[in-house]
Amino acid sequence: MKAIAVYHNKGGVGKTTLTVNLAAAFSRKGYRVLLIDLDSQANSTYAAGLIRFQDEADDDIKENYVYQVIRERNSYFIQDVVRQSQFTDPPFDVIPSHIDLMQHEFELKEIGVSYTRLANKLQKDADAYDLVVIDTPPSLNLFAQIALIAADYLLIPSDLKPFANEGLRNVREFVENANDLREQIKKKPLEVLGVVPSKINTAYKFVERILPKMEMAVTERYGFPVLQSRIFERRDLSAAIERMVEVGELDIPDPQSIFDYKPNSQSAEEFEALTQEIMQLIELEEAA
Ligand SMILES: Nc1ncnc2c1ncn2[C@@H]1O[C@H](COP(=O)(O)OP(=O)(O)OP(=O)(O)O)[C@@H](O)[C@H]1O
Ligand SMILES: [Mg+2]
Repeated sequence: MKAIAVYHNKGGVGKTTLTVNLAAAFSRKGYRVLLIDLDSQANSTYAAGLIRFQDEADDDIKENYVYQVIRERNSYFIQDVVRQSQFTDPPFDVIPSHIDLMQHEFELKEIGVSYTRLANKLQKDADAYDLVVIDTPPSLNLFAQIALIAADYLLIPSDLKPFANEGLRNVREFVENANDLREQIKKKPLEVLGVVPSKINTAYKFVERILPKMEMAVTERYGFPVLQSRIFERRDLSAAIERMVEVGELDIPDPQSIFDYKPNSQSAEEFEALTQEIMQLIELEEAA
């Protein structure tokens, strides 16, 4: 089992889009995939098609999601909490999040919750999955910290704009803090795979002249490698997640992966290339 956290403390850079489409890509290649949503916005829970209720009274997530996994030592193990996504075929497993997660941060800190509980529970289930991808909040909070302790690898999506770049200093510091904790539990330091250029402008001149300089600056100034694959800003990618279907009188959300929504699109190609690059970087063997 290899676990990849997708993190940047800058919001809106495409973390969730990247996480759910990577989970789909790996699942379609035959790997056993688990997606963990550690963001209280629950956007990847939504993309995975798990928010099927219209009314709060029918909320079937609140009592059984990532919060309980983190809080409880002797119950709420991974297999007790996972659901199956509707996002692609074959489906992958998901540990959902919930909007209430944010409210629990203070309480979890006050009871001195173990930062390593998620990591430990994953370890118990290491044979059940080939790959775990973790979506994180755009913040330096407890849940992001827990993600960086549970993961083996880190991907940092970034639109390479000035604030996203400046935020990389925080990411570096945050990774160093996580590594201090990892050392205490004798876990190897987090392996930073690098920055994934994300939501990138497709204008020819920009891509030819400016983008390479921006990518170089990330490595020179902030010391992070930059992946070769780029995810460009394309309408298909957001439309796939925002997809709706009509059921009777109602429009029901029915998000799809880019591979299901438009398999021959440029976005699908870009995600395929990124998936291949990640497989090489983490030395993932062919799926059984
Ligand atoms: N490559 C892309 N092309 C077009 N739109 C994109 C792309 N990536 C993300 N988006 C859109 O940008 C918005 C933010 O993306 P996303 O939710 O993936 O970012 P995020 O980093 O997870 O945000 P947050 O920090 O709030 O969790 C969404 O509306 C999404 O559909
Ligand atoms: Mg997100």
